[in-house]
Amino acid sequence: MDQDQLREEIVRLKQEKKAIIFAHNYQPAEIQDIADIVGDSLELSRLAAQVEARLIVFAGVYFMAETAKILAPPKKVIVPEPQAGCPLADNISRSELQALKKKFPGRKVVSYVNTTAEVKAETDVCCTSANAVSLVSSLPDEEIIFVPDRNLASFVRQKTGKQIIAWDGCCPVHEEIRAEHLLEAKEVCPEAEIWAHPECRPEVLEKADRVLSTGQMIKEARITKATEIIIATETGLLHRLRQENPDKKFYPARAEAICQEMKKNNLEKIYLALLEEKPEVIIDEETVAQARSAIDRMVQFVS
Ligand code: 13P
Ligand code: SF4
Repeated sequence: MDQDQLREEIVRLKQEKKAIIFAHNYQPAEIQDIADIVGDSLELSRLAAQVEARLIVFAGVYFMAETAKILAPPKKVIVPEPQAGCPLADNISRSELQALKKKFPGRKVVSYVNTTAEVKAETDVCCTSANAVSLVSSLPDEEIIFVPDRNLASFVRQKTGKQIIAWDGCCPVHEEIRAEHLLEAKEVCPEAEIWAHPECRPEVLEKADRVLSTGQMIKEARITKATEIIIATETGLLHRLRQENPDKKFYPARAEAICQEMKKNNLEKIYLALLEEKPEVIIDEETVAQARSAIDRMVQFVS
């Protein structure tokens, strides 16, 4: 089948099977264009529980589909490419978090949503890049264990003044965006603002005009007076930014900032997943029950 036939078949199967396609903001453009909902981690989590659908096809990385399944256990959640993982999420295991909790007893655990269901099961509250600062600020605790992203942890520490015990993980895609990339981009477009994702290194965040999650970048792009913006995050976000704001110019801080895991999905895999209703996300009931409260707190938290 060519790409047009695949698109037609996906639309037909979606209707026939009462399915909804979720796509993260970093998905390849052709998947964003066919998706019913494109969003950041927090938006997609919130909607997983709300949408009326029997079947959710989740185009993103595995932990995102897992989060959707935990929030919507009666719905069937399928992933077009089960091997699409997130190296940041896989950086800490349940036993490693258990050991950290033993080392720092009594500290609340805040886990970035980029974690496995098993790690979430050991967590008090999850956060995303969109609400990490406000959520940690809202906690009465002054000392917090924060996993797994050291850059987001350092940003939260700086913004909240709290004592954060951070796990030493990072996102390889954001870690490779360096301050010199921003300087080079600024040389080409000196008037442009710099917007950076909080998974970037502290020296990149220092140089940014705004630090925003992918969903916040989408919202702010609609209302900002800036007409040129350098985007320091995964380049998949540029598709939607450009599509929705044709009057503004968006430049990648680093054109090579591509999450290969996110790009493992394609139209053919979406079509096959819809057709066969697999591979399905299956999580054992105990882990779902244990992880659920930490995710519920994240989803219900209004910053
Ligand atoms: P958002 O929460 O901003 O969607 O980011 C998720 C992610 O994986 C960033 O690398
Ligand atoms: Fe994980 Fe980084 Fe890819 Fe986001 S961009 S899914 S944090 S590897």
